Amino acid sequence: MAITLSINKQAHTVDAAADTPLLWVLRDMLGLKGTKYGCGISYCGACTVHVNGRAVRSCKTTVGSVEKMEITTIEGLSDSETHPVQLAWQSVDVPQCGYCQSGQIMSAAALLSRNTNPTDAEIAAAMNGNLCRCGTYPRIREAIRRAAGQMAAKGGAQ
Ligand code: FES
Ligand code: FES
Repeated sequence: MAITLSINKQAHTVDAAADTPLLWVLRDMLGLKGTKYGCGISYCGACTVHVNGRAVRSCKTTVGSVEKMEITTIEGLSDSETHPVQLAWQSVDVPQCGYCQSGQIMSAAALLSRNTNPTDAEIAAAMNGNLCRCGTYPRIREAIRRAAGQMAAKGGAQ
């Protein structure tokens, strides 16, 4: 069936069953490969995207459930990778292998969009479901704090 999705502020009509995982459509039908497949069962966070500004696991989100909602992938988070979270990630040099990182960035951006001054506990809670096999967690936390400082200095959420 034809389903129209709003992704990165563009309408895309795809031929997919309503119960198709959003991740499948993003990667296999639309070529948006920045969103990664890790576990497929909501455990790792590699597939994190935003739906109406909230971080969701696209591997367990059906396309039928997000029709008429605003979906943002890592490709649409900013122009030229200039979101404060992306800039902080670059300055801290967070990634190791990189596989988990788009999901990490999307979760961090969702957190900071509603709270530009998160406590360590709030950062831990928001990032809890994003796993990194390379153990970049300390740099992730540092980058989130740095991005939060930048966003607060600029006067609020992006
Ligand atoms: S691939 Fe979706 S949470 Fe792991
Ligand atoms: S940077 Fe390798 S899994 Fe996170």
